[in-house]
Amino acid sequence: MSDGLEGVIAAQTVLSDVDGAHGRLVIRGYAVEDLAGRTRFEDAAHLLLDGFFDDAPSDLSSALGEARVGVFAEVAALDEGLARRDPVEALRALLARIPDGDDLKTALRLIAAPAVFTPAVLRVANGDAPIAPDPALSHAADILRMIRGVPATDAEAAALDAYLVTVCDHGLNASTFAARVVASTRAGLTSAVLAGLSALKGPLHGGAPGPVIDMLDAIGTPENARPWLERALARGDRLMGFGHRIYRVRDPRADALKAAVRRLSSASGGLPGRLAFAEAVERAALEILREHKPDRPLDTNVEFYTALLLEALGLPPSSFTCVFAMGRVAGWLAHAREQLAGGRLIRPQSVYVGPEVRVAA
Ligand code: ACO
Repeated sequence: MSDGLEGVIAAQTVLSDVDGAHGRLVIRGYAVEDLAGRTRFEDAAHLLLDGFFDDAPSDLSSALGEARVGVFAEVAALDEGLARRDPVEALRALLARIPDGDDLKTALRLIAAPAVFTPAVLRVANGDAPIAPDPALSHAADILRMIRGVPATDAEAAALDAYLVTVCDHGLNASTFAARVVASTRAGLTSAVLAGLSALKGPLHGGAPGPVIDMLDAIGTPENARPWLERALARGDRLMGFGHRIYRVRDPRADALKAAVRRLSSASGGLPGRLAFAEAVERAALEILREHKPDRPLDTNVEFYTALLLEALGLPPSSFTCVFAMGRVAGWLAHAREQLAGGRLIRPQSVYVGPEVRVAA
């Protein structure tokens, strides 16, 4: 038996390769750091879905813009009670309104859904009216406009694109595996995406970046980093944004996102102080983790600089997991289609360690 399925190979994929020993991530033949900052999310989604839908256009931009407009009708079901729940729960409830299907139209609606529903959830929770999508804008620019109510600058849209592309796929991570399991039963793409989103929600996976901001805020000053982090580890807490099942070195996505934070801050003239502080906390955390767990290489993962980048874009920490889903949904869908195309039902076994057979009373 493999605890947590560590080391188990459960699928063959053309989508992405996570090299944990060397800290490399390749998405359909491209190194993640070459895609992030150069590619729009629409093109990364196309790259992932390429070959999985016969009727996919060579440029997804306008079809995705139309899909954003189409799914906006579902926002009518959003009331303040739902919007004030955990944003992932509200997003999941709205996503569940999209009928199951295996076609391109369903896939595009599912890619559009987190991008349209998350801004609506944030705005309604704040007492503001949702803003309708603008199909003429890029996916990233439209997301920022729908959240904040004002147009995004090119630098902000490019920063969000860099983020969405960086997280669009990552091997058989927990949420993608969940999506593939559901796809393997032939339940449909909406069901697969709902499974992915539910797995993403947890703090050990896509729920980590919000708590990274809490940690930075609680630490407050560079001098307080070491004592604060030592107390956290002594309590048995995990440091959010550090450690990974596969990477034994630094997660390459951390540096792709740090570069995006730098580009954004040099364009806007803000944030160098926050970035320098975060770097000081990161250095202290790496030092302490090395002392705390000398046998287990623990390094920075994607979530640490995710938190910095999304914060710099003015997004609230409560939205970070939903924003993660806006990017990862493309990977979930590509994996679901790949599973449908050639995979068998995923059905592992368990070892029974319960009581011996006994006679029912
Ligand atoms: N802080 C402190 N200790 C840690 C951390 C951490 N961030 N990560 C792992 N450890 C310790 C564990 O406590 C464990 O110690 P033990 O053997 O004494 O119990 C040891 O290192 C091994 O940890 P595992 O839980 O076996 O490692 P696993 O591969 O299962 O977990 C995980 C990986 C969940 C990412 C873990 O490193 C973690 O909890 N990190 C913090 C949460 C986080 O940042 N999650 C985002 C990951 S990236 C993503 O999903 C997109």
